[in-house]
Amino acid sequence: MRSSRTQVGIIGAGPAGLALAQLLQGAGIDSVVLERRSRDYVLARVRAGVIEQGTVDILRRAGVAARLEREGLLHHGVELAAGERRHRIDFAAQSASVTVYGQTELTKDLVDARESSGVPPVFDVEDVVLEELDTERPRVRYRRSGEAHVLDCDFIAGCDGFHGVSRKAIPAAVLKTHERVYPFGWLGVLADAPPVSSELIYLSHERGFALCSMRSATRSRCYLQCELDTNVNDWSDGRFWDELASRLPGELASRVTRARTIEKSVAPLRSFVAEPLRYGRLFLAGDAAHIVPPTGAKGLNLAIRDVDQLAAGLVAHYVERRDGLLDAYSASALRRIWRAERFSAWLTSVLHRYPGQTSFDRGMQLAELDHLVSSAAARAAFVEAYTGL
Ligand code: FAD
Ligand code: PHB
Repeated sequence: MRSSRTQVGIIGAGPAGLALAQLLQGAGIDSVVLERRSRDYVLARVRAGVIEQGTVDILRRAGVAARLEREGLLHHGVELAAGERRHRIDFAAQSASVTVYGQTELTKDLVDARESSGVPPVFDVEDVVLEELDTERPRVRYRRSGEAHVLDCDFIAGCDGFHGVSRKAIPAAVLKTHERVYPFGWLGVLADAPPVSSELIYLSHERGFALCSMRSATRSRCYLQCELDTNVNDWSDGRFWDELASRLPGELASRVTRARTIEKSVAPLRSFVAEPLRYGRLFLAGDAAHIVPPTGAKGLNLAIRDVDQLAAGLVAHYVERRDGLLDAYSASALRRIWRAERFSAWLTSVLHRYPGQTSFDRGMQLAELDHLVSSAAARAAFVEAYTGL
């Protein structure tokens, strides 16, 4: 058995775990990132695309925003459409913006930064077990290439996503969870095709929600609301583009380029919050702690804000010998998380088609959208929540 020691053991090399390692290193705190998947798998995963300015600021402080700021697309508005009606929500009045930059690219920037730091993530670990969490010497046991390892830590950061082991290591008597599972998912594709419009379009349609997003001027990322049991093999590229066009207003439908898709996957939608985010010396951050439906584009942003707050607490512990921030982490992160949950669940409920939805329910959805586009106060609240002002 091999044993080693670090200050902060980080479980998971998603955006949360990698960004935490970067932030800690900037303050002279060492960490080891343990990841279940292979390096290739982590670098190929296609997920989020919308990054708040506050997230960009944190990534810049972590020294990983140079390419994002060079290649990311700065957006100053989004469009909401229902049937043939289109409405643009302008962020400029509040001097707000978001950056459209793929999570795949951000992950690459973070992995590159960790590799040049000399402490690369440890990929392909198996059987991760967290022990002694309620003592001052928590430990991670794992296996790699058939060999058993023990990593002794001062703290453990559970950044291992919704299906990870960290949250499950908190005793059931301590952990409370809150959940809403939605009766639909998103079928997403990535394709080398110009986006139908220069800004994101969120569509509420009788046939279901759709989203036209992008990764660049020549690459589209589009989603369709779908049944939970959707099999991607039943969705030829032609069928996807036809269905998307059928949900778009006419003038946009004619701009759909029916390109071959590079990636196609189904994601279920869920709202989930765990509390508390701390058990002894274990702290949860990112999707390990909470899930939002992707409609509000909040998941990645929440994850980065969580680890920024956690890093500040750890820095105060090591540098100033003060534990106030660590003690406050769970409660103060949860307030921010619940606000993002509220916005994400609300936008999901306004834009999606629900099984058994009545004409009254549809009328309420359209009235919500009408209120949003006709009330300056409602628009300002939307911009504040969407851009993370
Ligand atoms: P993850 O990215 O899930 O990373 C966790 C890591 O832990 C993974 O690499 C996993 O392999 C690893 N792991 C799991 N178990 C173990 C274990 N036992 N041991 C070691 N490692 C383990 N968010 C936005 O902000 N904007 C968007 O536009 C947006 N769009 C989205 C679109 C879709 C279709 C989806 C599915 C999500 C979207 N999100 C969006 C959400 C965003 O992708 C996630 O919130 C984000 O990936 C969370 O990062 P994380 O590091 O917390 O978790
Ligand atoms: C994306 O580009 O992948 C994306 C954009 C906005 C969302 C969700 C996903 O709300």
